[in-house]
Amino acid sequence: MSALPPGGIDVHTPNPARIYDYMLGGKDNFAADREAAKRVLKVFPESREGARRNREFLGNAVRHLAAEVGIRQFVDIGAGLPTQDNVHQVAHSVAPDARTVYVDNDPVVCVHGRALLANTDTVAMVNGDVRKPEDLHAKVAQTGLIDWSRPVGMLMVALLHYVEEPYEHVARLREYLAPGSHLVITHLTVDGSRAGDKERLRQIYAESGTPLIPRTVEEIGSLFGDFELLDGVPFLPPHLAERLRPLGAGGVARKP
Ligand SMILES: C[S@@+](CC[C@H](N)C(=O)[O-])C[C@H]1O[C@@H](n2cnc3c(N)ncnc32)[C@H](O)[C@@H]1O
Repeated sequence: MSALPPGGIDVHTPNPARIYDYMLGGKDNFAADREAAKRVLKVFPESREGARRNREFLGNAVRHLAAEVGIRQFVDIGAGLPTQDNVHQVAHSVAPDARTVYVDNDPVVCVHGRALLANTDTVAMVNGDVRKPEDLHAKVAQTGLIDWSRPVGMLMVALLHYVEEPYEHVARLREYLAPGSHLVITHLTVDGSRAGDKERLRQIYAESGTPLIPRTVEEIGSLFGDFELLDGVPFLPPHLAERLRPLGAGGVARKP
């Protein structure tokens, strides 16, 4: 029997989307991904809870934007493998007419996404890269689902720590957004307390061919540019903030 499933997926190299899927209890992962995830868990036993909290924050942010702000169109960049409470499902629970375009640069993620969305005309999946904002913008526009002249909820959740130089690309994407749009970001943080562990984490991810670059809270804040951070959607509930702070930071911000 061939080790490569149809489509030539490399099952021997760990893949960030599938490592994350394993952390969330998903089934779309292979032995190499599970092995890498277990090594991550040895270094950071909080990773599994961190992944779940990240996902919970994503759901809270989308629900807030749909219910409280009235956002009806979402662009989810670095969407990952479909799991529970995907952006379009949360948005539809508030507003059945909400439109969502998922973007990911991993072709395997795109195949899974398209299979999930086969019968939905308010949702699309495009193969795009946050490092190519013009191309990404054009591909999202081609779906016909997003009106860029109106407010958009744009998500880059657990994405930008895989990108070497994200600042200019994110700035370009912020420019495309109409006033009243919102940007949702979460990101792996670096702080002095776990610096050695972060280095070991970086080595595990290097084997997957993907860089892993934790950033300071100030650096992460600068990804929002002049957008105004909302108070109402905290990344971590206060009782967990102390324990999980080494893992990440994030927020939701509004374009003035
Ligand atoms: C850890 S998953 C996050 C999934 C989801 N956003 C969440 O937080 O639950 C990161 C995703 O980002 C994608 N990704 C990594 N680099 C990317 C890039 N340059 N452009 C677009 N997607 C990218 C990966 O393929 C993966 O699916």
